[in-house]
Amino acid sequence: MEPQQILLPFLLLLSFFIHFSTVSSQAPAPAPPGPTNITAILAKAGQFNTLIRLLQSTQLANQINTQLNNSNQGLTVFAPTDNAFSNLKAGTLNSLTDQEKVELMQFHVVPTFLSINQFQTVSNPLRTQAGSSDSGGFPLNVTTSGNQVNITTGIVNATVSNSIYSDNQLAVYQVDQVLLPLQLFGTPAPAAAPTPAPSKPKKSGKPTDDSVVDADAKNPDSSDAIGSSMIQVALMSKVSFAVSAVAFYVVTMR
Ligand SMILES: *[C@@H]1O[C@H](CO)[C@@H](O)[C@H](O)[C@H]1NC(C)=O
Ligand SMILES: *[C@@H]1O[C@H](CO)[C@@H](O)[C@H](O)[C@H]1NC(C)=O
Ligand SMILES: *[C@@H]1O[C@H](CO)[C@@H](O)[C@H](O)[C@H]1NC(C)=O
Ligand SMILES: *[C@@H]1O[C@H](CO)[C@@H](O)[C@H](O)[C@H]1NC(C)=O
Ligand SMILES: *[C@@H]1O[C@H](CO)[C@@H](O)[C@H](O)[C@H]1NC(C)=O
Repeated sequence: MEPQQILLPFLLLLSFFIHFSTVSSQAPAPAPPGPTNITAILAKAGQFNTLIRLLQSTQLANQINTQLNNSNQGLTVFAPTDNAFSNLKAGTLNSLTDQEKVELMQFHVVPTFLSINQFQTVSNPLRTQAGSSDSGGFPLNVTTSGNQVNITTGIVNATVSNSIYSDNQLAVYQVDQVLLPLQLFGTPAPAAAPTPAPSKPKKSGKPTDDSVVDADAKNPDSSDAIGSSMIQVALMSKVSFAVSAVAFYVVTMR
């Protein structure tokens, strides 16, 4: 008996089973939640009135909501408090054109969902919706130590101080500073010389009581499990396709 004759029914059967199990593992998907509304989330959290106003005037609030409805990568939003905005040098926002305000807001949005644990493994510089993360553009670097997450833009060093909201699509983190991007706030560098920051002696070992991160509390790790099961489903689909392709090959080559 030719091996193909044994193989063919087996492959077709296998293909069927894999396809079936793929479909059934997609079945118990949770009911789709209502559309997420970044404005409502921030309003509920309080102390983000300036951010809300800017997100609305730049149309970014609508874009974020639309993106959340359409993307499967999710989004991460860094939300500076009203206090952070009022600590800016006077006239900082007014010095920006409308387009620059859009870029400033886009710089606070990362086009993927990041749980607090995922910050430990992201590679710097992080890409934001403002575009290029080149050193002349909009780089945003993250440093972590345990659950503490700091952000540096080259202009400001900020601390992620709280998780305001997190599902497996959208994460919103409170930051204590407005993230000012190099592109908009960097001092024009002298032509040839890169500008090394003069290194001042650092105070070390001083406990920072007011920068305690309590972000894990609201951040269920279930999102990771959901993510990996989605990957499994995707893999199974590919396996199923590959097996079907082999079966087709066997049939056509006989
Ligand atoms: C989002 O929430 C804000 C504040 O609660 C509300 O004014 C706005 O209409 C909502 N947008 C949508 C699309 O539901
Ligand atoms: C969300 O997406 C669905 C399907 O793409 C669409 O029918 C619906 O109108 C969208 N809702 C919002 C609020 O954008
Ligand atoms: C984050 O910033 C705070 C305040 O500047 C500092 O004390 C802490 O060591 C930094 N942590 C990390 C992980 O960079
Ligand atoms: C961000 O990290 C990259 C890669 O480590 C580094 O080259 C760059 O200088 C950093 N930028 C800032 C602003 O810290
Ligand atoms: C941010 O932190 C870096 C490294 O710790 C330091 O060199 C720099 O001066 C800080 N910048 C500001 C604006 O605090």
